[in-house]
Amino acid sequence: MIEVVGSHLYVGSVRADRIAEAYGTPVYVYDGEVVEENYLRLRRAIGYRDLEIMYACKANSNVGVLRILRDLGSGLDAVSPWEALLGVELGFPRERILFTGTSVSDEEMRFVRGELGVLVNVDSLSQLRRYGRLFPETEVSVRVNLGFGAGHHRYAVTGGLSKFGVPPGQLGAVGDALREHGLRLVGLHTHIGSGILDAEPFLEAARRLLELASRFPDLEFVDVGGGFGIPYGPSERPLDVELLGGELAKLVEDFASRYGHVRLRVEPGRFIVGSAGVLLTRVVDVKEVEVGGARKVFVGVDSGMNHLIRPALYGARHEVVAATKADWPRVLRADVVGNICESGDVLAADAELPEVEEGDVLAIMNAGAYGYSMSSNYNLRPRPPEVLVYRGETRLTRRRETFGDLMRTVEL
Ligand code: LLP
Repeated sequence: MIEVVGSHLYVGSVRADRIAEAYGTPVYVYDGEVVEENYLRLRRAIGYRDLEIMYACKANSNVGVLRILRDLGSGLDAVSPWEALLGVELGFPRERILFTGTSVSDEEMRFVRGELGVLVNVDSLSQLRRYGRLFPETEVSVRVNLGFGAGHHRYAVTGGLSKFGVPPGQLGAVGDALREHGLRLVGLHTHIGSGILDAEPFLEAARRLLELASRFPDLEFVDVGGGFGIPYGPSERPLDVELLGGELAKLVEDFASRYGHVRLRVEPGRFIVGSAGVLLTRVVDVKEVEVGGARKVFVGVDSGMNHLIRPALYGARHEVVAATKADWPRVLRADVVGNICESGDVLAADAELPEVEEGDVLAIMNAGAYGYSMSSNYNLRPRPPEVLVYRGETRLTRRRETFGDLMRTVEL
């Protein structure tokens, strides 16, 4: 559990400021038990007898986190050949990995299907035809774009007029390509978007996908994608996963009783890992700026948009907790800003903080999903380490990058 006890923030039973002390800042810290709880909660919520949770590892591909999920029996949604390769190397069963790429080259398919033996979920007619030429008489899955989407930001909406998936109007041509190359369509997939807090769009997507599914007799699974949102602050109402899971199970059961058995796949990323991680960063600078009567306080920290880009990219709001002043009155309104040369380098705009000073550790909350995995070396800054707290142990699962790491691909 990641919680405040008295004035301190804890990850599991470990004080966050002590982790910052031991591993330095900035540092990503994950609570393995929260990963486990989130996974198990979703499993329980979706009461379909043949459910496969395919963890979307783009959200967080930390090997410690992946091993926990592998041991729980999770499958893997991989969006690049490297994610698929990592899954295979970590021992996820191949048949429980699905490669859902976009703008996929023949070379990538040769690797994923030919070398790894992982099922390809094609994103377009072009890809299906190319796949058929490369791997005739094999199995394939198709991602459908149902024509509508949802998500926390327009960049996180994938259904509708977007580059993702095959429109239902092209399913006739899909059938032709399947026949031409002797392919068996074993999976029908959709993913409408990410960060959705309302059950209805998922159910609508499931209904429409199942309607299409009845046309394909070889189908072994339907995959309704990920997108299960989490609340990032007290003003957001959490998704009712129990309600959603119950309704989803009913829809698929009804389908199965009419058309034959199918497995149900879901691909949660954020729901599993989002609340399980914090980014710990240290205050290095406090500045007050006054321009033309307007006044603003900037709390400068030793991390930035290179480590957590969600606020800069989507205007996402992550709560901030001062790790050793967690229950202090929040008297300071300030922008928590990073050390990157961009005005948009804000980790938390207008955050309500206690009186903080240089040296204090701040925790950027709910940073377990799309945090490290979207980080970069912008400004030639190294990425932070990742620490996993799990079953009473605190362990470094990825070390901090060094200058040498940054120069590894350079020919000087
Ligand atoms: N399946 C597919 C095919 C996807 O494209 C995605 C996410 C997922 C599953 C997992 O979605 P989740 O359950 O995590 O919402 N960087 C953005 C989110 C982009 C998600 C892209 N696709 C963010 O930080 O909000």
